[in-house]
Amino acid sequence: PLPVIAVVGATGAVGIEIINCLESRDVPVGELRLLASARSAGQHLPFRGSDVLVQELTERSFDGCNIVFFSAGASVSRKYAPLAVAAGAVVVDNSSAFRMDPNVPLIVPEANGGTIAPHAGIIANPNCVAAIATTALAPLQRCWAITRLNMVTYQSASGAGAAAMDELRQATAAAVNEEPFEQQIMPHPMAFNLFSHNAEIDPETGYNGEETKVIAETRRILGLPRLPVGITCVRVPVLRAHSIALSVRFDGFVSPESVRDKLSNAPGVRVVDDIENNHFPMPCEASGIEDVLVGRIRTDLIDPTGQTIAMFISGDQLLKGAALNAVQIAENLLAQQVTSQAA
Ligand code: A2P
Repeated sequence: PLPVIAVVGATGAVGIEIINCLESRDVPVGELRLLASARSAGQHLPFRGSDVLVQELTERSFDGCNIVFFSAGASVSRKYAPLAVAAGAVVVDNSSAFRMDPNVPLIVPEANGGTIAPHAGIIANPNCVAAIATTALAPLQRCWAITRLNMVTYQSASGAGAAAMDELRQATAAAVNEEPFEQQIMPHPMAFNLFSHNAEIDPETGYNGEETKVIAETRRILGLPRLPVGITCVRVPVLRAHSIALSVRFDGFVSPESVRDKLSNAPGVRVVDDIENNHFPMPCEASGIEDVLVGRIRTDLIDPTGQTIAMFISGDQLLKGAALNAVQIAENLLAQQVTSQAA
């Protein structure tokens, strides 16, 4: 029988894209169960030519499910993911709830897909920046050991959900029309502005919660628990693709040409490095596509040894940064036929 697949948070920005990825990637689905809060129960969402009813998430929602995607925030995952596992399903969790749990694999298929088993019923989908960065770093790490990493991010509104995307549209329209606008979702104006990522700052370290997550998760995905990582996360007025200015040091000299060559053949990566036309990765070209765009590949002059490479990356936050990566994990689970935690 074809698998029964549920999506918790089906009406959200990521949930909608999970449904789209299941459809566009021809994932075998026997039954699609769409779950959200009572607010949107009764709505219908399209899937493969039919309208699927959105149901309210309850403790009984998971009977008969093989795979359950969670994308409704960490507190919903903490409460309901164990219930889905108890009902016999494997959970692919897009929240931060279990990402650093040693019993929960944290997976980017292109980077560490081979380590998906063993698991205890929950697989974690990484933070969007960690997923996009490691997709580009993993093929390089297979050739040269990584010894240091620095990143500055340019993060879109979609990372804060559908409501934040709406706020960016409305704030921009208001700014163009010179009308007043009170933001409700974001702490600062988004239109024609940017600001340090809205996650809370830890007063002891001076790093915000987003930066702390990206550091920990990048280390975990790359299997380098002590990798020195520097990062500054910034929110920019872009709808759905994140960009990263990244600088990576290797344990020996590496030429930009060899990096370009490795990335040209890497799964999930598209090199956009057209020096003649000054055409490099842009969020508008990364939006809506599965590949992560990588360009501006050059020797980082901060390091006179020639061991550090700088590059610029744009990746769709809702796809590789969230829904696509989650669906790829589910495809791996289905291929391994480990759709129950007993397997
Ligand atoms: P709803 O649309 O009913 O509020 P986003 O990240 O775009 O904000 O989306 C969040 C998703 O998580 C939505 O589908 C939302 O459903 C869902 N959600 C939020 N809180 C809950 C909850 N307590 N129980 C079930 N679903 C929830």
